[in-house]
Amino acid sequence: MSTNESSAMEQLSVEELTAKLEPDLLPKHVAIIMDGNGRWAELRNLPRIAGHREGIKSVREIITACQELGIQALTIYAFSQENWNRPLQEISAIMGLLEYYLSTELAKLIEQGVRFRTIGRLDSLPASALQWVRAAEQKTAHLERLHLTVALSYGGRTEIVDAMQAILRETQEGKLQPGDVDETCIQQHLYTHGLPDPDLLIRTSGETRISNFLLWQLAYTELYFTPTLWPDFRRRELVQALLEYQRRERRFGRVLSTISS
Ligand code: IPE
Ligand code: IPE
Ligand code: MG
Repeated sequence: MSTNESSAMEQLSVEELTAKLEPDLLPKHVAIIMDGNGRWAELRNLPRIAGHREGIKSVREIITACQELGIQALTIYAFSQENWNRPLQEISAIMGLLEYYLSTELAKLIEQGVRFRTIGRLDSLPASALQWVRAAEQKTAHLERLHLTVALSYGGRTEIVDAMQAILRETQEGKLQPGDVDETCIQQHLYTHGLPDPDLLIRTSGETRISNFLLWQLAYTELYFTPTLWPDFRRRELVQALLEYQRRERRFGRVLSTISS
């Protein structure tokens, strides 16, 4: 986009920007690395947890926007396996916020038709947070307007290890033959089985890395990096990311003329 075009876009309201979206070309599955909460707080001389708290408002707004736009699946990275290396005080505060979010938001998620699921090594979570997670999963299991997946205590390499272990077990039990192990088989053993691969990955806060997120699933995903910090990433920023996605040409290794055939 030229500088003139981008400054013209800045003048538009969020409704006008949304009207520019091509409904048939929306991504089916959007994944987000929600980064920059700590820096958002530090910029305001607030404790890091204030940034996580503000980040929940963005989570709420982005879920609602995805649901209203008709996006089928949203996967958000809330806590990585590596995040267990943070100070205990921050970890406890984040787990407390997770419980707070689920206890105050579950009714709204149900009303919005959101199916809540998690991926990751959930057994590392504190028991009370885990109880809320399981309750939310059970109470939304019948819903399908928006498939929301929250990555919690999640690591992409661990997910692949867990898939390999499951496949090896099934091979030993005779349920699988070594020759059955192909890409489809591996996909079916990942935490995300049943979900299509993300079409679009958004990472906020200006970092341009994957940080161990969905390593297998992102093979052909369009990547979108924005300097906006997660607590500032709201509906307008999502629509801008979707417009940028719609300007991309997805080739999947082919040449353009053969894509529609
Ligand atoms: C993302 O924000 C949230 C989590 C990883 C839990 P950060 O806490 O990483 O914020 P920055 O990157 O330090 O600004
Ligand atoms: C990635 O953010 C994990 C989540 C957003 C949950 P981090 O802030 O933990 O990632 P790094 O440390 O910058 O790679
Ligand atoms: Mg970070």
